[in-house]
Amino acid sequence: MTPEYLSAFPPGLGDVVGRALIEKDPDASLGRYDGSVIFFSSRLSPEQVQNLPFFQNAFLVLSRQQFSDTSNLPRIVESLFNNIDRESTLMARQIIRFFGWRSFRFRVSEEGELRPISPKQMNRLERVTSKSLGVQVNRSKPDFEIWFLIRRSGESYYGLRLTNDREKRERGELSREISYLLNFISQPKPQDVFLDPFAGSGAILLSRAKHFAYKEIIGMDIDPKGVEVAKRRLRKFPGTRVMRGDALQMKEIRGESVDVIVTDPPWGIFKKFKSDPRKFYYEMLREMRRVLRSKGRLVILTAARDEMEEAIENLEWLPNETFDILVSGRKAGVYYFIKP
Ligand SMILES: C[S@@+](CC[C@H](N)C(=O)[O-])C[C@H]1O[C@@H](n2cnc3c(N)ncnc32)[C@H](O)[C@@H]1O
Repeated sequence: MTPEYLSAFPPGLGDVVGRALIEKDPDASLGRYDGSVIFFSSRLSPEQVQNLPFFQNAFLVLSRQQFSDTSNLPRIVESLFNNIDRESTLMARQIIRFFGWRSFRFRVSEEGELRPISPKQMNRLERVTSKSLGVQVNRSKPDFEIWFLIRRSGESYYGLRLTNDREKRERGELSREISYLLNFISQPKPQDVFLDPFAGSGAILLSRAKHFAYKEIIGMDIDPKGVEVAKRRLRKFPGTRVMRGDALQMKEIRGESVDVIVTDPPWGIFKKFKSDPRKFYYEMLREMRRVLRSKGRLVILTAARDEMEEAIENLEWLPNETFDILVSGRKAGVYYFIKP
């Protein structure tokens, strides 16, 4: 039986996630995806899916059903629970043994919101599962979780959660998933000289260094604190350097010397712009165009869309593709350019 998975991804990047998944497993079969959740079957092992850098969350699906009426939550939970087959139970046992997990808890979620079920039903399901999977219940600090995921459309899943929420991030740092997907959009090539001129603590640089081949990686930021953090994180990767500099006037970077830029410039939300934000975006885009080689690629993530679009118009440089996405619930745009 090919394992089935359900995963959450950054809203707005479904097509990109689909492409990234097919790159990892060309035989994966992608189900429908809407909003921020994708269902797929793949020969990738649960451990491999757990480590895919573009999912926020991943579940091994143990059973799934479509309900026309989602108002009776206890009935749906019961039905999903009873629908698990022998093979799925065996697979769950194998994974639990592989990871050395000993304790679990249940979670019930309806369209992303946690929902309670009656103590009586909970106790019974816990008892049965403890026995069939050979694990203890621990409602406060379990090794793993089993979820009932009920969607508004009626699609419902019972699954073993493969990921946890323990990603540590620097202040203002971009998530691992978005950093990876921005790099993926830039169509990375092994011979790339790569630049992030607004590197901050280096999430995009680190993602490029870890997951894609490169010739050279250059990071820049005006804030010495960010430069220090990024330097430290990149230290063990050869061919990388991080420097202090002004992205609007990159004196250190020769014209037409960079193959790809992936960056997340200031949005003017947490920290106000010192000068006119429209001028800032104009100068930024012009400077990036200067340092890029012909056919060079540029990916910019920003929520300052008016400023970005005015710069595009004034420089008469249209993006090849744009994506409307949500970053921590905030509307933002991803712009992908190729220099003529
Ligand atoms: C949105 S943050 C980037 C966060 C980064 N992607 C991360 O994950 O840590 C924007 C960064 O631009 C830097 N910055 C602002 N103005 C700059 C300029 N003129 N030149 C270079 N960096 C600048 C800020 O110091 C900040 O680190």
